[in-house]
Amino acid sequence: MTNIRPMATSDAPALLDIWNRAARFDTISDDVFHEKAWLDDGVDADLRLVAEVDGSAAAFAVGAVRQKDQGPSGYIKMMAVRPELQRNGLGSDLLSRLEHELRRRGTRVCRPGESAPNYLTPGVDLRYTKATVFFEKRGYEKIGQSYNMEAELENIDLDTTGDEEPLAMTGFRIGRAAESDRSDVMAMLAEHWPSWQDEVGVSLSNDPVSLFVARRDDKVVAFSAYETNNRGTGWFGPMGTAPDARGHGIGSVLLKRCLVDLRDAGYRRAIIPWVAPISFYLHHVGAEVCRVFNRYEKQLDDHSPSD
Ligand SMILES: CC(C)(COP(=O)(O)OP(=O)(O)OC[C@H]1O[C@@H](n2cnc3c(N)ncnc32)[C@H](O)[C@@H]1OP(=O)(O)O)[C@@H](O)C(=O)NCCC(=O)NCCS
Repeated sequence: MTNIRPMATSDAPALLDIWNRAARFDTISDDVFHEKAWLDDGVDADLRLVAEVDGSAAAFAVGAVRQKDQGPSGYIKMMAVRPELQRNGLGSDLLSRLEHELRRRGTRVCRPGESAPNYLTPGVDLRYTKATVFFEKRGYEKIGQSYNMEAELENIDLDTTGDEEPLAMTGFRIGRAAESDRSDVMAMLAEHWPSWQDEVGVSLSNDPVSLFVARRDDKVVAFSAYETNNRGTGWFGPMGTAPDARGHGIGSVLLKRCLVDLRDAGYRRAIIPWVAPISFYLHHVGAEVCRVFNRYEKQLDDHSPSD
């Protein structure tokens, strides 16, 4: 008999085991599982669901709500069914329940993945063939693709001394941020990238601070961060240079300063997730696309048949 109920923290080991067996391209640690399911203000108890079969956890799903300019949006952050119990309707039951809960919270659209600022994947990896078919058959329409890149950190020259000296002569000072930079950094983000404030806030709270900034005339004009998401995986980003400071080579230095930290922390490769400027990362650190994701969206109208 199947029973869907809210998740308890004591479920974590069993659910992590289901996830790591079902989602083989995204195996994660218990810390990352906790970060995704519990350390997210957009996830409440009724959006963390477990499906039990004969009293044992057989599947789970985690949904999230994000407030956007156009209103609240819904996301399926994670969803997995024990491999030997797949294709018995458990995934469909969990999806219907999550869509219902999301609709109750005023969301009119739902996307799998891409639940920034706390997310694991920017869409559905094409290699999850069953998930691709599953979402497409349940009303999710493809709205594009997204990419993760990977930079090898061994045998790469990440020394930025020769680049930083001329930048300093033209008034750009680059260094690790400190707590005292918080208001200036947040002001720059508010102006150019308000949606990155949470992730960059995480980097300022990390020890050591996992954020580098460039200043000109005491104004923060660019930044790069790492370990803002999925701690322990070598996760780079976000990064950005204000439009009037572009073209001086600041981004390259900021990127490399983060990668040096990741290398010093023992990572052999950095993940550069949800990338737009592929050529920038290829050019400066030889990064290559390592994953391709389909992005999907479903309109959650009031009369959805899955309700
Ligand atoms: C996607 C997933 C959650 C679906 O769970 P499920 O319990 O198997 O889902 P259901 O039984 O309700 O539906 C299965 C659907 O998946 C698709 N599917 C799965 N296996 C299939 C197969 N061998 N042939 C054709 N379609 C298949 C179909 O759409 C099928 O529906 P149908 O039976 O009506 O044709 C499950 O496959 C899974 O855990 N995958 C690994 C983790 C993952 O990719 N998660 C998504 C990223 S967040």
